[in-house]
Amino acid sequence: MKKLTVLMLAAGLMTSGAAMAAGDAAAGKSLYDASCASCHGIQAQGQGMFPKLAGLSSERIKTTLVAFKSGDTATLKKEGLGGPNSAIMAPNAAGLSEQDMDNLSAYIATLK
Ligand code: HEC
Repeated sequence: MKKLTVLMLAAGLMTSGAAMAAGDAAAGKSLYDASCASCHGIQAQGQGMFPKLAGLSSERIKTTLVAFKSGDTATLKKEGLGGPNSAIMAPNAAGLSEQDMDNLSAYIATLK
């Protein structure tokens, strides 16, 4: 039973890895420019209380977006987030589909 759980977890990881690789950066850019740039900046350079996203890995971006969407404070805290400002970010992740998050992660990871 334990072995099966481990196998299923591994399969799940592989699936999400494949989905991440399938992120469409061009689609991510349109969504980013429309929904994220107003706070994080057009080059994801950050401004004031809005953190810089440029330079983060696609894995990190996907992980935090999923955590904001699901209200997973433990994961956010582990990444140094999840303070009072996360209430500003959470609604922006709430409406994102799995594909949106993959696309956004793929795009933002191209920014330096
Ligand atoms: C209304 C302003 C606002 C908008 C719009 C917004 N964000 Fe955020 N975002 C924030 C704030 C504030 C934080 C910091 C939250 C914290 O400290 O917990 C944040 C944090 C993040 C983080 C975590 C950064 C890290 O260090 O890992 C990511 C990733 C992120 N935003 C992506 C996005 C994406 C993608 C969009 C568009 C779908 C978006 N944000 C739209 C305000 C915004």
